[in-house]
Amino acid sequence: MFEVLVTGGAGYIGSHTCVSLLDAGFSVVIADDLSNSKFEAISRIRSITGNKVTFYPYDVTDEIELEKIFTRHSIRCVVHFAGKKAVGESVEMPLEYYRTNLLSTISLTRVMKRHNVKNIVFSSSATVYGNSKKVPYSETAPTGNCTNPYAWTKWMNERILTDVHRSDPDWSVILLRYFNPVGAHPSGQIGEDPLGIPNNLFPYVTQVAVGKLDRLPIFGSDYPTKDGTGVRDFIHVMDLAEGHVSAVRKCIQDYGVHAINLGSGKGYSVLEVLHAFEEATGKEIPHYFCPRREGDVAVSYASTKKAAQELRWRAQRDLREMCQDAWNWQKLNPLGY
Ligand code: WQD
Repeated sequence: MFEVLVTGGAGYIGSHTCVSLLDAGFSVVIADDLSNSKFEAISRIRSITGNKVTFYPYDVTDEIELEKIFTRHSIRCVVHFAGKKAVGESVEMPLEYYRTNLLSTISLTRVMKRHNVKNIVFSSSATVYGNSKKVPYSETAPTGNCTNPYAWTKWMNERILTDVHRSDPDWSVILLRYFNPVGAHPSGQIGEDPLGIPNNLFPYVTQVAVGKLDRLPIFGSDYPTKDGTGVRDFIHVMDLAEGHVSAVRKCIQDYGVHAINLGSGKGYSVLEVLHAFEEATGKEIPHYFCPRREGDVAVSYASTKKAAQELRWRAQRDLREMCQDAWNWQKLNPLGY
């Protein structure tokens, strides 16, 4: 089977996608500079799948290093995850975010072009919808008007890849807009391992459950929602990984640029998640209410029609399974990798 290059393949979504690609019979080559991930994740991918994985500890902004990979391998498609991804951090250090997230895409596509590899699946985000009011978010909704540099880099990368296709229609570009990926592989061997205090809800909850943090701050209880707390579209990371396998299959058979939401299409509030987690795990999650977090929207969830039509893919796993698998990973790896 031909080779798929996964940049950022040691990261949270990248490692789960590598497992699903290997399980689907693809050969996987990973390029990851390990600046925000651990080599242990690569070892775990190998032990979960029993497959060999070729790994390069390379900086994806470096064309000279990328040249080595494309010369040594017959890459058929690239799944591009590598980049910085913390919303709050991007506000504090915008130059780092613009340099890393844009230069990695520019370097990668320049080397791909030189090697006549024109199939790319890009890890985008629902944050490109900015403060769009109309939920569920459809792919035809206006994008831009982003609320932070991280989201702008996703929006700009979509623009770059769209213009690359416009300059050469032989390119096949799939832009996957993720909602809120959570959970872990059912083995509990790979999962979300954020550096420092987690920004996101699920890893914060699991770290309270395992005793690493003492209680969950709930940002805002006065939103116009069923219980006043924020509503999001949580999607199991294994569903997301399987969505990438479908996207790779489409990417190599198709041409053009396709933006596609990867979400469950359901919205759950912070309090609903907290209660579902307590019920699924038997762990009590002490919590307290505090003011809204800067940049948060009240409600966000996906229209899933286009993913069903174009990828013949739909999220299968429910909130209970997301909570169980998130907890299973955390209790087996209380300190992460
Ligand atoms: C979810 C809800 C918070 C933490 C972010 C990025 C987005 C994407 C997914 C990459 C909100 C509330 C959170 C906490 C809380 N990442 N919350 N206490 O902000 O929807 O999306 O991650 O693409 O780009 O923006 O996810 O998990 O941070 O927040 O009450 O300690 O949980 O207010 O309502 P978010 P989140």
